Amino acid sequence: MLLFGCPVLDDVLLTVDELVVNALRHTRSGRPGGTFAVDIVSWGGSFAVAVTDEGAPCEPAVADADADAGDDAESGRGLRTVSLLASGWGWFGNDRSRAVAALFTPTAVSLGEIA
Ligand SMILES: Nc1ncnc2c1ncn2[C@@H]1O[C@H](COP(=O)(O)OP(=O)(O)OP(=O)(O)O)[C@@H](O)[C@H]1O
Ligand SMILES: [Mg+2]
Repeated sequence: MLLFGCPVLDDVLLTVDELVVNALRHTRSGRPGGTFAVDIVSWGGSFAVAVTDEGAPCEPAVADADADAGDDAESGRGLRTVSLLASGWGWFGNDRSRAVAALFTPTAVSLGEIA
């Protein structure tokens, strides 16, 4: 199994959960008949997850921490959590299809600019 022995299994699964919920809540994937894809790859002790959706006018972005303290403190936590758990995260695509990905690696490697 791909994730057997993964030392950061809980972090990987929580990240997949946050990205899938975002795909359903914020993109066309959440409409009736909508679809999304989850890809997980592993190599040399590193793991990467990507959730590909059907696009949206908005773009994935970590919410402003100050704004989050306002009257909607229950939202804007997902990608901040991902950014803290993962070694790096990013996205590419456009309003018709977008993939949001996170990398978990024991070494200090960043996804960097993958757009
Ligand atoms: N796949 C996506 N495509 C387009 N926009 C996205 C996507 N994922 C997130 N966003 C945008 O980024 C914002 C921040 O996402 P984040 O997951 O941090 O917060 P949230 O989903 O609004 O609330 P929470 O995750 O705390 O329930 C979202 O409000 C949305 O505008
Ligand atoms: Mg979210």
